[in-house]
Amino acid sequence: MSAFRSRFFWKTYLTFAVLFFITTIMVSWIGFYRIQSTIHGIILENLQAKAEFLLPLARQAMAGQLPDGDAQLRRLGADTNTRITLIARDGKVISDSEGVAGDMENHLLRPEVQQALTQPFGFSERQSATLGKPLLYLAKAVRAEDGTMQGVVRVSLSTDKIHGELSQLRWTMLLIASLGVVLALGIGWNLARRVAVPIREMVQVAEAMRSGRYEQKVRTITDDELGRLGDTLNRLGAELTSKIAELNRLETVRRDFVANVSHEIKTPLTSIKGYVETLLSGAINEPRTSLRFLEKIERNSERLSNLVQDLLSLARIEATEESLKLTATDWCEVISSVIARNEDVITQKSLRVKVSGISTPQLVMGDREAMTQVLDNLLTNAIKYTPEGGRVSVVLSAKGAQTRLEVEDTGIGIPPEHLDRIFERFYRVDKARSRELGGTGLGLSIVKHLAAAMGGDVQVESSVGIGSKFTVRLQVAT
Ligand SMILES: Nc1ncnc2c1ncn2[C@@H]1O[C@H](COP(=O)(O)OP(=O)(O)OP(=O)(O)O)[C@@H](O)[C@H]1O
Ligand SMILES: [Mg+2]
Repeated sequence: MSAFRSRFFWKTYLTFAVLFFITTIMVSWIGFYRIQSTIHGIILENLQAKAEFLLPLARQAMAGQLPDGDAQLRRLGADTNTRITLIARDGKVISDSEGVAGDMENHLLRPEVQQALTQPFGFSERQSATLGKPLLYLAKAVRAEDGTMQGVVRVSLSTDKIHGELSQLRWTMLLIASLGVVLALGIGWNLARRVAVPIREMVQVAEAMRSGRYEQKVRTITDDELGRLGDTLNRLGAELTSKIAELNRLETVRRDFVANVSHEIKTPLTSIKGYVETLLSGAINEPRTSLRFLEKIERNSERLSNLVQDLLSLARIEATEESLKLTATDWCEVISSVIARNEDVITQKSLRVKVSGISTPQLVMGDREAMTQVLDNLLTNAIKYTPEGGRVSVVLSAKGAQTRLEVEDTGIGIPPEHLDRIFERFYRVDKARSRELGGTGLGLSIVKHLAAAMGGDVQVESSVGIGSKFTVRLQVAT
């Protein structure tokens, strides 16, 4: 991703660049002037020492006690790379290591000489009239033993070389500073980019999220707070995606549910309405037909009533799923009462029902009403989907902290591809057949919800044509 279009990048980078530029210029400037003044100081000290050193010789020369003074000055000057000048009290040049004293003008008014007359020493930097090049001058008064002023000794140094070197230093420093600036600008560029690119990416991802696209990801995940922010944004996107998928799924379930309920209500209602209309339009006068129709109306009303009851059950379970009050309840009692309740249909279909494991009470953590509903649904199914003369067995057993209740039949069985779905609301393997038998497909979903509400579960095994086995597991009461 390019950083060039990031305002943040340019703001940060330009601020940094300007700051760095100003700082570098200031530091170099100050550095240079400090070095220059230090060099100046050293030269001055050096000249001062030389002047001090020359004082005895100057005193002798001025007193006329040094016949070969000129030659000595020249030699000393050449040896120390210094120009030495002796000037009398009245400014007349007595001797000069590099010029001819007689040819030189009166030096009384030279600034360094003037200063030396009143102060410890005089100093000046200017173009030399004698040599025609820039010089640094230092002058010191020469006094006799008794303190009378005899004249001035002056030492001077050509500043050509110093100026040359200082200007070279200035260029070197400028070069280093420029290199530093270029390097820093490069590094700063990179740094600003490293911050700006993820930020720009995150802004884009956040904007995408705002407009509903949650799948866009931040790709630059660095090992710092920015990286954490990007990662968090990615996780947020993933969470939202899955939440939205879940919401969509729930919405589909809800819509299907409403459609199913409407359909299930409409079918019996339409029949009832049809029969009633037919009766009203005359059929009521034929006793046999009207009896048949009334029976049909009764069956359909029964269906409607069952459906509404199941729906209420489901709604209640869902509302109280977490608040179902569990107490120690005896499975055996529930089993006996449910079997008794279904005795009629069992004999009607001449089914053989075998119950085992109920000789001693089996206490589980449950709710009597819920357990009754669970077993009743399983048993009704077993009876409903088992042909006449078949066998149904109800087996109760305990294993560790769990009890297992198995309801097994020798019925039609459930094809494997439906096993996953029979616990869904309204799901029926064979819609037409089940409806004919008065089913709406809510029974097993009620069983599943109730088992879960009691901290247990329900499982199914089945083979087509052989039979089915439903197993409910609940916790043993402690
Ligand atoms: N013991 C069984 N043997 C064969 N198929 C079964 C058995 N129990 C359930 N099924 C299948 O699972 C489907 C769902 O069962 P469920 O009890 O939820 O609904 P239903 O019996 O059709 O209607 P309802 O119980 O609401 O009156 C049934 O329609 C049937 O196809
Ligand atoms: Mg059922």
